[in-house]
Amino acid sequence: MILSIIAALDEEGGIGFKNQIPWHLPVDLGRFKKLTMGHHLILGRKTYQSIGKPLPGRRMIVLSRNPEYKLTGSRLAGSLQDALQIARDAGDSEVFVIGGAEIYQLALPIADRMYLSHVHTTSKADVYFPAYDADNWLKICEQEFPADQANPIGHTFRHLIRKISP
Ligand SMILES: NC(=O)c1ccc[n+]([C@@H]2O[C@H](COP(=O)([O-])OP(=O)(O)OC[C@H]3O[C@@H](n4cnc5c(N)ncnc54)[C@H](OP(=O)(O)O)[C@@H]3O)[C@@H](O)[C@H]2O)c1
Repeated sequence: MILSIIAALDEEGGIGFKNQIPWHLPVDLGRFKKLTMGHHLILGRKTYQSIGKPLPGRRMIVLSRNPEYKLTGSRLAGSLQDALQIARDAGDSEVFVIGGAEIYQLALPIADRMYLSHVHTTSKADVYFPAYDADNWLKICEQEFPADQANPIGHTFRHLIRKISP
């Protein structure tokens, strides 16, 4: 099973502020939906609260250290390894770690792929994508998306794969 990270980050690596994503880019949300549809998503409890509901067509696995945490339409896992096992047992081919910062940090050392949207702005942020060594990652796709009427900020989408298995 492939372990993928999917994230949108600004020019300083900012990914969120006050438990929200600081921008609204429908083109990026559409890509997120297309890439993740039919797969398991692993996310932190804070990101789950921020989204507020299960995403249709995908199975959400929420990480929390609180085994009593109440969820609707999603599974709870106490560790990244347990979350990965749930997706593996279900026979998924690719599982997506969708944030936030704490969960990206956990997954980065063992991730196989990253789908990163580099948003061309510097926003007020209180959570950041973890630092990674670009030398360990091969860029297999890069696409520019200029700002337009529906998407007020331009972004660059990059698909990276790890050069050597973790
Ligand atoms: N730009 C993007 O692409 C993007 C994507 C997703 C999220 N975000 C943003 O990121 C922010 C949220 O990120 P965050 O780092 O604050 O929170 P988070 O990663 O979403 O969730 C953190 C929570 O996950 C649980 N957790 C963390 N490590 C764990 C471990 N080892 N084992 C079990 N559970 C663990 C804990 O839950 P308990 O406290 O319940 O134990 C912890 O409080 C928001 O602003 C959100 O909008 C941005």
